Amino acid sequence: MHLLFASWSLVILHALLILLIAQGNSARKIPIANGNEDHLLLTTHDHDHSSYPSSSHMNHMDDPALNVFFNPEDLRLGKTMPIYFSKKDPSLSPKLLPKQEADSIPFSISNLPYLLEFFSFPQDSPQAKAIAYTLTQCDLEPTKGESKFCATSLESMLDFASAQFGSNTQLKVLTTSPLSNSATLLQNYTVLEPPKEILAPRMIACHTMPYPYAVFYCHSQESENWLYQVFLGGENGERIDAAAVCHMDTSQWDRSHVAFQVLGAEPGTSPVCHFFPSDNLGWVPFPT
Ligand SMILES: *[C@@H]1O[C@H](CO)[C@@H](O)[C@H](O)[C@H]1NC(C)=O
Repeated sequence: MHLLFASWSLVILHALLILLIAQGNSARKIPIANGNEDHLLLTTHDHDHSSYPSSSHMNHMDDPALNVFFNPEDLRLGKTMPIYFSKKDPSLSPKLLPKQEADSIPFSISNLPYLLEFFSFPQDSPQAKAIAYTLTQCDLEPTKGESKFCATSLESMLDFASAQFGSNTQLKVLTTSPLSNSATLLQNYTVLEPPKEILAPRMIACHTMPYPYAVFYCHSQESENWLYQVFLGGENGERIDAAAVCHMDTSQWDRSHVAFQVLGAEPGTSPVCHFFPSDNLGWVPFPT
């Protein structure tokens, strides 16, 4: 499992680097994917249930995407539970920009009017709302004990991680393998191997945000997290090597966080665990 996990990390990193290099060779214009801006529309699934307090309109308890939360006791060999994994067409994903190019574009809510003109989105369009949402989230001050950073390039994501862990620390990335094309989004999965615990004093979680190019919302909490790589088997034969985290101290979380409703818990009374969607990255020091 360890080797499988390590090689997955490499595959992801390679994919990112290849994307980056491909981008470096492309024309100067901002590559909004093939004129398709669906990825820019805010949906419940883009919204990261796992890290932000929910806002009411995204808070439907019948949303299948809420099947990502679980209790630490669920993480045992043979356990079966319904889990939702999202499926995103990589060709529609926003493109990673090389750092130099990303740094040449302002990235702040105060530049919103300029940016809407720059990307050619009308002020009241859904895309404009998504851009405003992302810039607002990225401009928020970190909460107590939190470090956060919105990375607009792979280099700046790695710079942030290095700054957090120390520049001499090697980094390992935790990811969830992508869903195959035939898989259903929500199905019962069984834990097929003993969950592998990854001992790391600290993790930086990076989530993709809706934006015309790839933006990662990266943050790191000082409180205790338990990290796992879990090998799951779906009812239809799907195999997923999933990254999962258990937040052991939820006492500082907003009472309205959707995880508490899903698990029937309250802030501080019980840990909240969740699986990573496949477009999230968890950075930990290596060796841990
Ligand atoms: C998972 O299995 C349970 C028990 O067999 C069943 O009631 C439930 O509908 C299944 N859920 C999904 C999403 O298939």
